Amino acid sequence: MIYLDNAATTYPKPKRVYKRVEEIIKNIGGNPGRSSHTMALEASRVIFSTREALAKLLNIPDASRIAFTKNATEAVNIALKGLLRSGDHVVTTSFEHNSVARTFKRLEAEGIEVTKVSGGRGKSPDRVEPGDIEKALTGKTKLVCIVHASNVFGTIEPVPEIGELCRGKGITFMVDGAQTAGAVPIDMDSMNIDLFAGTGHKALLGPQGTGFIYMKEGIEPPPLVDGGTGELTDVLEIPDRLETGTINTPGIGGLGAGVEFILNEGLTKIKAYEEKLLGQLIQGLGKIKGVNILGTPDAKQRVGLVSFTIEGQNPDEIGMRLDREFSIMVRAGTHCAPDAHMTAGTHPEGAVRVSPGYFNEPEEIEEFIKAVEFIAKGS
Ligand code: ALA
Repeated sequence: MIYLDNAATTYPKPKRVYKRVEEIIKNIGGNPGRSSHTMALEASRVIFSTREALAKLLNIPDASRIAFTKNATEAVNIALKGLLRSGDHVVTTSFEHNSVARTFKRLEAEGIEVTKVSGGRGKSPDRVEPGDIEKALTGKTKLVCIVHASNVFGTIEPVPEIGELCRGKGITFMVDGAQTAGAVPIDMDSMNIDLFAGTGHKALLGPQGTGFIYMKEGIEPPPLVDGGTGELTDVLEIPDRLETGTINTPGIGGLGAGVEFILNEGLTKIKAYEEKLLGQLIQGLGKIKGVNILGTPDAKQRVGLVSFTIEGQNPDEIGMRLDREFSIMVRAGTHCAPDAHMTAGTHPEGAVRVSPGYFNEPEEIEEFIKAVEFIAKGS
């Protein structure tokens, strides 16, 4: 079996992640931030230490500006639904994941004006130009929201430049980092990011059901779900205000172990290894007749995924054949991002997406390329 669907969720996880989740479920019975007995305090320590580890990895000076969520989608929803009001104008791209695209669709019905800047227009459809974002701004623009790297294209977007532009104009800048947290170096302050939505189960190597939102000081969205600890009249501060209900202590502990693994191993080393596998993939796939790769051919400008089509073949069928005939797992279709496929011209069939991770070997990539070659020949 060869697992090449790490952009959907990473597998396997580092051993310490499995161990940490098991230890917490077995040994820590309390709810974080609730009772004051020994195990409840232990649970609070688990949450605290994951917050600190994430803050270290993402260069966030104050860890309390990170609130845990169940995934990046919840984080996106907290920010957009919490901060935007009828009459506001927002700028986004034409290749957002449904977490952002669908949320904006709902908000449009509530009187928020949305401008989608296309990465296409004769240039690379996978990269948005800061100049085009600037042209789309109006006097009413409250927020710019872009994906850091599309889960279809994999191309790393010019976040620092767009962040600088927004900061200069006093516009809130939000980044969907579902594919980049743990995969590329991130520094919230120097990249001028005000809001960042991340997930725990992809490049951060944690369990599913974990995510987070980073909010720069002064940005205070209300909770999406009411509840939480304290008296009815208490005004909860961030992060408690957003972490209503008992949170996923084993999952967040496992996420902490994933982040520790990245900090110990070094992001530079992880990224360099993934770039090597990506280079091998791009080169190998590029030689196959009929294969068309989406996104930049430069592995250094990508996160660990490559989407492609084979002329005259249905992507879902290719994905199915890779699984059934070669035991290779990839993700085919529209990847919860129809807008990205419309931008690429691959809608409605979508594409095949192969996404290696830190635990894949070059031999597995070679086997994958041979399998695609076989299928592309019409065999
Ligand atoms: N958003 C996830 C993906 O890209 C699930 O596959």
